[in-house]
Amino acid sequence: MSDPKDLPAVPIKGPARKRFVNPIPAEGENGVYTQSWFPVALSSQIEKGQLVGRDFLDGRIVVFRGENGQISVVSAYCPHLGADLAQGKVIGNQVQCPFHHWEYDQNGVCVKTGIGDPPPPNACLFKFPVCEKFGIVWVFNGEAPLFELPDFPLPDEDIVLVNYAFETPINCDGWVFSANTPDMQHLKVVHKIQFNTDDPHELVDWQPWGFDYTYDAVHQGGVPMKMRLGIRGSSFFWRVGHYDGWWRGTVTGYGCPKGGTHVIYGCNAVRKGPDAERQLEVAAMLSKRTVGEDYPILNTIRYKPGLLTKSDKSLARFLKYLREYPRAHPSADFIN
Ligand code: FES
Ligand SMILES: [Fe+2]
Repeated sequence: MSDPKDLPAVPIKGPARKRFVNPIPAEGENGVYTQSWFPVALSSQIEKGQLVGRDFLDGRIVVFRGENGQISVVSAYCPHLGADLAQGKVIGNQVQCPFHHWEYDQNGVCVKTGIGDPPPPNACLFKFPVCEKFGIVWVFNGEAPLFELPDFPLPDEDIVLVNYAFETPINCDGWVFSANTPDMQHLKVVHKIQFNTDDPHELVDWQPWGFDYTYDAVHQGGVPMKMRLGIRGSSFFWRVGHYDGWWRGTVTGYGCPKGGTHVIYGCNAVRKGPDAERQLEVAAMLSKRTVGEDYPILNTIRYKPGLLTKSDKSLARFLKYLREYPRAHPSADFIN
Protein backbone atom coordinates (compact mmCIF):
# COMPACT_ATOMS: atom_id res chain seq x y z
CA MET A 1 0.00 0.00 0.00
CA SER A 2 1.41 3.38 -0.97
CA ASP A 3 2.25 5.97 1.64
CA PRO A 4 -0.26 8.87 1.44
CA LYS A 5 2.58 11.39 1.44
CA ASP A 6 3.81 9.90 -1.86
CA LEU A 7 0.44 10.51 -3.59
CA PRO A 8 0.28 13.50 -5.99
CA ALA A 9 -1.49 16.55 -4.59
CA VAL A 10 -4.92 17.12 -6.16
CA PRO A 11 -5.53 20.86 -6.59
CA ILE A 12 -8.95 22.17 -5.49
CA LYS A 13 -10.63 23.71 -8.51
CA GLY A 14 -12.61 26.94 -8.40
CA PRO A 15 -12.73 29.67 -5.78
CA ALA A 16 -11.77 29.00 -2.16
CA ARG A 17 -14.77 27.61 -0.29
CA LYS A 18 -15.81 29.91 2.46
CA ARG A 19 -19.14 30.33 4.17
CA PHE A 20 -20.18 33.97 4.43
CA VAL A 21 -22.47 34.48 7.38
CA ASN A 22 -23.68 37.48 9.33
CA PRO A 23 -25.42 35.94 12.35
CA ILE A 24 -28.24 37.42 14.39
CA PRO A 25 -27.63 37.46 18.19
CA ALA A 26 -29.33 34.41 19.67
CA GLU A 27 -31.87 34.67 22.50
CA GLY A 28 -29.84 34.42 25.71
CA GLU A 29 -26.54 35.30 24.01
CA ASN A 30 -24.52 37.44 26.45
CA GLY A 31 -27.34 36.92 28.96
CA VAL A 32 -29.93 39.09 27.16
CA TYR A 33 -33.17 38.47 25.23
CA THR A 34 -35.19 40.54 22.74
CA GLN A 35 -37.50 43.04 24.43
CA SER A 36 -40.82 41.94 23.00
CA TRP A 37 -44.26 40.64 23.99
CA PHE A 38 -44.00 36.87 24.44
CA PRO A 39 -47.06 34.61 24.77
CA VAL A 40 -46.99 32.42 27.88
CA ALA A 41 -50.48 30.85 28.00
CA LEU A 42 -53.96 30.95 26.57
CA SER A 43 -56.36 33.06 28.66
CA SER A 44 -58.62 30.00 28.88
CA GLN A 45 -55.84 28.00 30.58
CA ILE A 46 -55.99 30.25 33.67
CA GLU A 47 -59.39 30.64 35.31
CA LYS A 48 -60.04 32.91 38.30
CA GLY A 49 -58.13 31.57 41.32
CA GLN A 50 -55.73 29.50 39.20
CA LEU A 51 -51.99 29.69 38.59
CA VAL A 52 -49.56 28.03 36.21
CA GLY A 53 -45.77 27.93 36.20
CA ARG A 54 -43.96 28.50 32.93
CA ASP A 55 -40.35 28.38 31.81
CA PHE A 56 -39.45 31.81 30.42
CA LEU A 57 -36.15 33.29 29.24
CA ASP A 58 -34.24 30.32 30.68
CA GLY A 59 -35.87 31.01 34.07
CA ARG A 60 -39.22 30.46 35.71
CA ILE A 61 -42.36 32.58 36.07
CA VAL A 62 -45.85 32.17 37.52
CA VAL A 63 -49.00 33.33 35.75
CA PHE A 64 -51.99 33.72 38.08
CA ARG A 65 -55.49 35.15 37.95
CA GLY A 66 -56.98 36.69 41.08
CA GLU A 67 -60.60 36.33 42.09
CA ASN A 68 -61.03 39.86 40.65
CA GLY A 69 -60.22 38.44 37.19
CA GLN A 70 -56.91 40.29 36.83
CA ILE A 71 -54.02 38.31 35.38
CA SER A 72 -50.52 38.80 36.83
CA VAL A 73 -47.16 37.43 35.81
CA VAL A 74 -44.36 37.35 38.38
CA SER A 75 -41.03 35.63 38.94
CA ALA A 76 -41.54 32.15 40.37
CA TYR A 77 -38.89 31.87 43.06
CA CYS A 78 -39.90 33.04 46.54
CA PRO A 79 -37.46 35.59 47.99
CA HIS A 80 -37.63 33.81 51.37
CA LEU A 81 -35.84 30.54 50.51
CA GLY A 82 -36.51 30.09 46.82
CA ALA A 83 -39.52 27.76 46.61
CA ASP A 84 -41.29 27.65 43.23
CA LEU A 85 -44.56 29.55 43.64
CA ALA A 86 -46.06 27.41 40.87
CA GLN A 87 -46.45 24.78 43.60
CA GLY A 88 -48.45 27.24 45.71
CA LYS A 89 -51.98 28.52 45.27
CA VAL A 90 -54.04 31.63 44.69
CA ILE A 91 -55.84 33.00 47.72
CA GLY A 92 -58.17 35.85 46.85
CA ASN A 93 -56.03 38.10 44.68
CA GLN A 94 -52.71 36.87 46.10
CA VAL A 95 -50.35 34.03 45.36
CA GLN A 96 -49.23 31.98 48.35
CA CYS A 97 -45.85 30.24 48.53
CA PRO A 98 -46.12 26.48 49.16
CA PHE A 99 -43.26 26.46 51.68
CA HIS A 100 -43.93 28.96 54.54
CA HIS A 101 -47.10 30.53 53.14
CA TRP A 102 -45.79 34.02 52.42
CA GLU A 103 -48.30 35.80 50.22
CA TYR A 104 -47.66 38.16 47.29
CA ASP A 105 -50.17 40.61 45.84
CA GLN A 106 -50.82 41.29 42.16
CA ASN A 107 -47.85 43.65 42.07
CA GLY A 108 -45.60 40.89 43.40
CA VAL A 109 -45.17 42.56 46.80
CA CYS A 110 -45.07 40.33 49.89
CA VAL A 111 -48.01 41.37 52.08
CA LYS A 112 -47.93 38.69 54.79
CA THR A 113 -46.01 35.71 56.08
CA GLY A 114 -47.60 32.46 57.13
CA ILE A 115 -46.21 32.60 60.67
CA GLY A 116 -47.18 36.25 61.28
CA ASP A 117 -43.74 37.89 61.22
CA PRO A 118 -43.84 41.21 59.35
CA PRO A 119 -42.63 40.75 55.76
CA PRO A 120 -39.09 42.05 55.31
CA PRO A 121 -38.95 45.39 53.52
CA ASN A 122 -38.33 44.91 49.79
CA ALA A 123 -39.65 41.33 49.84
CA CYS A 124 -41.00 41.25 46.32
CA LEU A 125 -41.09 39.32 43.11
CA PHE A 126 -40.33 40.69 39.64
CA LYS A 127 -43.60 41.88 38.12
CA PHE A 128 -43.79 41.71 34.34
CA PRO A 129 -45.91 43.95 32.11
CA VAL A 130 -48.78 41.75 30.94
CA CYS A 131 -51.71 42.02 28.56
CA GLU A 132 -54.46 39.72 27.35
CA LYS A 133 -55.26 40.02 23.66
CA PHE A 134 -56.59 37.55 21.10
CA GLY A 135 -57.31 35.10 23.97
CA ILE A 136 -53.59 34.92 24.76
CA VAL A 137 -51.60 36.08 27.80
CA TRP A 138 -48.60 38.16 26.64
CA VAL A 139 -45.64 39.10 28.83
CA PHE A 140 -43.15 41.83 28.02
CA ASN A 141 -39.44 41.25 28.62
CA GLY A 142 -38.73 44.53 30.40
CA GLU A 143 -39.74 46.81 33.25
CA ALA A 144 -42.20 48.61 30.97
CA PRO A 145 -43.41 47.80 27.46
CA LEU A 146 -41.65 49.55 24.58
CA PHE A 147 -44.73 49.22 22.32
CA GLU A 148 -48.29 47.91 22.36
CA LEU A 149 -49.75 45.04 20.37
CA PRO A 150 -52.26 46.00 17.65
CA ASP A 151 -55.95 45.03 17.45
CA PHE A 152 -57.87 43.38 14.65
CA PRO A 153 -59.52 46.02 12.44
CA LEU A 154 -63.01 44.67 13.33
CA PRO A 155 -64.77 45.21 16.68
CA ASP A 156 -64.55 42.23 19.07
CA GLU A 157 -68.33 41.79 18.98
CA ASP A 158 -68.24 41.18 15.21
CA ILE A 159 -65.80 38.28 15.28
CA VAL A 160 -65.58 34.76 16.64
CA LEU A 161 -62.16 33.61 17.71
CA VAL A 162 -60.65 30.19 18.42
CA ASN A 163 -57.29 29.68 20.10
CA TYR A 164 -54.69 26.96 19.88
CA ALA A 165 -51.43 26.17 21.66
CA PHE A 166 -48.44 24.30 20.27
CA GLU A 167 -46.44 23.91 23.46
CA THR A 168 -43.88 21.36 22.27
CA PRO A 169 -40.74 23.48 21.90
CA ILE A 170 -39.49 24.04 18.35
CA ASN A 171 -35.71 24.07 18.16
CA CYS A 172 -35.00 27.63 17.06
CA ASP A 173 -35.52 31.12 18.47
CA GLY A 174 -38.97 32.61 17.87
CA TRP A 175 -37.53 35.46 15.79
CA VAL A 176 -36.53 32.82 13.22
CA PHE A 177 -40.23 32.09 12.71
CA SER A 178 -40.90 35.85 12.57
CA ALA A 179 -38.28 36.15 9.84
CA ASN A 180 -40.44 33.91 7.63
CA THR A 181 -42.94 36.74 7.17
CA PRO A 182 -40.67 39.03 5.09
CA ASP A 183 -39.06 35.93 3.47
CA MET A 184 -40.90 36.09 0.17
CA GLN A 185 -38.90 33.24 -1.38
CA HIS A 186 -40.23 30.96 1.33
CA LEU A 187 -43.86 32.17 0.93
CA LYS A 188 -43.71 31.06 -2.68
CA VAL A 189 -41.65 27.89 -2.37
CA VAL A 190 -42.71 26.44 0.99
CA HIS A 191 -46.32 27.65 1.18
CA LYS A 192 -47.01 27.75 -2.59
CA ILE A 193 -48.36 31.31 -2.51
CA GLN A 194 -48.30 32.86 -6.00
CA PHE A 195 -48.32 36.65 -6.00
CA ASN A 196 -50.50 38.28 -8.67
CA THR A 197 -47.93 41.09 -8.82
CA ASP A 198 -44.18 41.43 -8.54
CA ASP A 199 -42.83 40.67 -5.08
CA PRO A 200 -44.40 43.37 -2.87
CA HIS A 201 -41.08 44.63 -1.41
CA GLU A 202 -42.00 48.24 -2.15
CA LEU A 203 -45.32 47.86 -0.30
CA VAL A 204 -43.71 47.00 3.03
CA ASP A 205 -44.59 49.64 5.61
CA TRP A 206 -41.62 49.68 8.00
CA GLN A 207 -42.33 50.95 11.50
CA PRO A 208 -40.16 51.38 14.60
CA TRP A 209 -41.44 48.09 16.07
CA GLY A 210 -42.06 45.98 12.99
CA PHE A 211 -43.73 46.13 9.59
CA ASP A 212 -46.88 45.29 7.62
CA TYR A 213 -47.47 44.68 3.93
CA THR A 214 -50.29 43.56 1.69
CA TYR A 215 -50.16 40.85 -0.94
CA ASP A 216 -52.65 39.90 -3.59
CA ALA A 217 -52.11 36.23 -4.33
CA VAL A 218 -53.41 32.78 -5.12
CA HIS A 219 -52.97 30.02 -2.56
CA GLN A 220 -52.86 26.24 -2.91
CA GLY A 221 -55.91 24.94 -4.77
CA GLY A 222 -56.28 28.20 -6.69
CA VAL A 223 -57.79 30.04 -3.70
CA PRO A 224 -57.66 33.84 -4.06
CA MET A 225 -56.27 35.68 -1.04
CA LYS A 226 -55.62 39.31 -0.32
CA MET A 227 -53.92 39.66 3.02
CA ARG A 228 -52.18 42.25 5.15
CA LEU A 229 -49.56 40.67 7.34
CA GLY A 230 -46.77 41.74 9.60
CA ILE A 231 -44.59 41.39 12.66
CA ARG A 232 -44.40 43.37 15.90
CA GLY A 233 -41.31 43.19 18.07
CA SER A 234 -39.54 39.88 17.59
CA SER A 235 -42.34 37.50 18.49
CA PHE A 236 -45.77 38.59 17.22
CA PHE A 237 -47.21 37.72 13.78
CA TRP A 238 -50.60 38.78 12.50
CA ARG A 239 -52.45 38.57 9.23
CA VAL A 240 -55.87 39.89 8.27
CA GLY A 241 -57.73 39.98 4.99
CA HIS A 242 -59.90 37.98 2.66
CA TYR A 243 -59.34 34.32 1.91
CA ASP A 244 -61.60 32.83 -0.74
CA GLY A 245 -63.85 35.85 -0.28
CA TRP A 246 -64.34 35.64 3.53
CA TRP A 247 -62.62 37.69 6.23
CA ARG A 248 -59.98 35.92 8.23
CA GLY A 249 -57.68 37.11 11.03
CA THR A 250 -54.74 35.17 12.40
CA VAL A 251 -52.32 35.84 15.25
CA THR A 252 -49.30 33.71 16.09
CA GLY A 253 -47.06 34.43 19.07
CA TYR A 254 -43.66 32.87 19.59
CA GLY A 255 -42.99 32.20 23.28
CA CYS A 256 -39.47 31.92 24.68
CA PRO A 257 -39.18 29.25 27.39
CA LYS A 258 -35.43 29.19 26.82
CA GLY A 259 -32.86 30.39 24.35
CA GLY A 260 -32.80 28.31 21.17
CA THR A 261 -36.44 27.19 21.38
CA HIS A 262 -39.91 28.61 21.01
CA VAL A 263 -43.51 27.57 21.63
CA ILE A 264 -46.56 28.82 19.75
CA TYR A 265 -49.84 30.30 20.98
CA GLY A 266 -52.24 31.48 18.31
CA CYS A 267 -55.76 32.27 17.24
CA ASN A 268 -57.93 32.22 14.18
CA ALA A 269 -60.80 34.66 13.86
CA VAL A 270 -63.64 34.99 11.36
CA ARG A 271 -66.65 37.25 11.06
CA LYS A 272 -69.70 36.14 13.05
CA GLY A 273 -72.41 34.71 10.79
CA PRO A 274 -74.01 31.55 9.43
CA ASP A 275 -70.79 30.42 7.69
CA ALA A 276 -68.49 31.12 10.65
CA GLU A 277 -68.17 27.52 11.80
CA ARG A 278 -67.08 26.26 8.38
CA GLN A 279 -64.69 29.19 7.97
CA LEU A 280 -63.10 28.46 11.36
CA GLU A 281 -62.59 24.84 10.33
CA VAL A 282 -60.86 25.94 7.13
CA ALA A 283 -58.77 28.48 9.08
CA ALA A 284 -57.71 25.81 11.60
CA MET A 285 -56.77 23.44 8.77
CA LEU A 286 -54.74 26.21 7.11
CA SER A 287 -52.90 27.06 10.36
CA LYS A 288 -52.07 23.41 10.92
CA ARG A 289 -50.92 22.94 7.33
CA THR A 290 -48.83 26.12 7.33
CA VAL A 291 -47.10 25.34 10.64
CA GLY A 292 -46.64 21.77 9.35
CA GLU A 293 -44.90 23.11 6.23
CA ASP A 294 -42.55 25.27 8.31
CA TYR A 295 -42.00 22.86 11.20
CA PRO A 296 -39.43 20.37 9.82
CA ILE A 297 -37.34 23.27 8.51
CA LEU A 298 -37.49 25.43 11.63
CA ASN A 299 -37.02 22.53 14.04
CA THR A 300 -33.65 21.64 12.49
CA ILE A 301 -32.30 24.92 11.10
CA ARG A 302 -29.13 26.70 12.25
CA TYR A 303 -30.28 30.12 11.12
CA LYS A 304 -27.25 32.02 9.88
CA PRO A 305 -27.99 34.54 7.14
CA GLY A 306 -25.45 34.10 4.37
CA LEU A 307 -25.69 34.94 0.70
CA LEU A 308 -28.96 36.68 -0.16
CA THR A 309 -30.50 37.53 -3.54
CA LYS A 310 -32.78 40.29 -4.82
CA SER A 311 -35.85 38.29 -3.75
CA ASP A 312 -34.56 38.68 -0.18
CA LYS A 313 -34.78 42.48 -0.14
CA SER A 314 -37.38 42.69 2.66
CA LEU A 315 -35.85 39.78 4.54
CA ALA A 316 -32.47 41.53 4.52
CA ARG A 317 -34.03 44.65 5.99
CA PHE A 318 -35.77 42.61 8.70
CA LEU A 319 -32.51 40.85 9.56
CA LYS A 320 -30.88 44.27 10.04
CA TYR A 321 -33.83 45.25 12.28
CA LEU A 322 -33.25 42.06 14.30
CA ARG A 323 -29.52 42.71 14.66
CA GLU A 324 -30.23 46.19 16.03
CA TYR A 325 -33.23 45.15 18.14
CA PRO A 326 -33.05 46.07 21.87
CA ARG A 327 -32.08 43.20 24.11
CA ALA A 328 -32.06 43.10 27.93
CA HIS A 329 -32.85 40.86 30.87
CA PRO A 330 -34.06 42.95 33.83
CA SER A 331 -35.73 39.98 35.58
CA ALA A 332 -32.53 37.88 35.57
CA ASP A 333 -31.93 38.17 39.32
CA PHE A 334 -35.46 36.98 40.06
CA ILE A 335 -36.36 34.26 37.58
CA ASN A 336 -33.14 32.25 37.74
S1 FES B 1 -39.71 29.79 50.61
FE1 FES B 1 -41.53 30.87 50.22
S2 FES B 1 -42.32 31.32 52.14
FE2 FES B 1 -40.47 30.30 52.55
FE1 LIG C 1 -43.71 29.88 6.82
